[in-house]
Amino acid sequence: MSSALLHTPDRQHSDSIKWQRYAGRDILPMWVADMDFAAPAEVVEALQARIAQGMFGYTEPSASLHEAIVDGIARDHGWQIEPDWIVFLPGVVSGFNLACRLAGTPGDSVLTFPPIYPPVLTAPRNQERRLLRSELVLAGGHWEYDWEGLDTLLATQRAREVVICNPHNPVGRVWSRDELTRLAWYAEKHDWLICSDDIHCGLVLDPTRPYTPIAALDESIAQRTITLMAPSKTWNIPALGCAFAVIPNASLRKQYVAAGHGLTPEVNLLGLVACEAAYRHGDAWRQALLARLRENAQRLHACVNALDGLSMTPVEATYLAWVDCRALGLAQPQKYFEQHGLGFSDGRDFGMEGFVRINFACGPELLDEALRRLDLAVRAA
Ligand SMILES: Cc1ncc(COP(=O)(O)O)c(C=O)c1O
Repeated sequence: MSSALLHTPDRQHSDSIKWQRYAGRDILPMWVADMDFAAPAEVVEALQARIAQGMFGYTEPSASLHEAIVDGIARDHGWQIEPDWIVFLPGVVSGFNLACRLAGTPGDSVLTFPPIYPPVLTAPRNQERRLLRSELVLAGGHWEYDWEGLDTLLATQRAREVVICNPHNPVGRVWSRDELTRLAWYAEKHDWLICSDDIHCGLVLDPTRPYTPIAALDESIAQRTITLMAPSKTWNIPALGCAFAVIPNASLRKQYVAAGHGLTPEVNLLGLVACEAAYRHGDAWRQALLARLRENAQRLHACVNALDGLSMTPVEATYLAWVDCRALGLAQPQKYFEQHGLGFSDGRDFGMEGFVRINFACGPELLDEALRRLDLAVRAA
């Protein structure tokens, strides 16, 4: 796939929190989940054309945007949704916070599976719910749900809702149909509302691990599920603030919209424009991106697993690697690597000690330098 579509501009002056954190210091920014690639030309051109009109009055998502999303999800993920199932949101984080408001009544519990994207861990408390944790386990060379541990937890605790992440940030799993079916069985048995954060679903790297939305398993699961999606991760436009929930159940959808009344702002016009262009015209760019990410993932995987004291599992999806540093015996792995010129995310924020998360969505030169520094840092530990 042509990498001519993928540009890696200098991000030093692009108002980027990823790059500003280490401005003026020789530390490679490989933390927050955005990419060092410019957005697809088709998205930029659509934004330019809309800006040229000079009109920015109140607006609402058009029928054409709904159609672009419905077609895009059918084309890319084989899931046929209806336009009126879509609820636009300013972000996926707002989306799962709103979903927590529908989990029973204040004081009730929301189950999730650490290590996980940090705002998932704080959402229940934000919405006066309790967090129930069932940690993922490393078994047979990949991360899995701990079914036995889940049974033990559920013997004494009652959850009203489960929040999953599919594909999962940070462990990079694309949950299989079997795993989702088993989870869905629990949801039916315990009458859970399901909130599935599928923001990374356009970033599957391993073609043998196709992504299935849990709501696509069957009609009864669809009726209890809120699926959160966005163009933001796949096409690198997170600051444009456009996401959406897909909610097939009309009464659940009504409750969800009502939970955000007066609080959830309308999506920014430019976010809507970018979203439509991405779903309609962004696939060639996405394929070029996936080729680059696959190569980066393989290089990082080989390097990490060749170093004594570090290990990682294959990244099935996302541009994030969850690296096990426990064998190095470092008190604070993130700080240690930062002192060696590598700016990773701290695993503790995701609810697990002894890990760092590496964002490898960068050009090959930056990755070369990161691998060189990683080697030196591990040898010096
Ligand atoms: C799993 C997951 N959900 C949500 C988000 C952020 O979503 P948004 O910026 O739309 O709130 C991220 C960003 O890294 C993420 O990894």
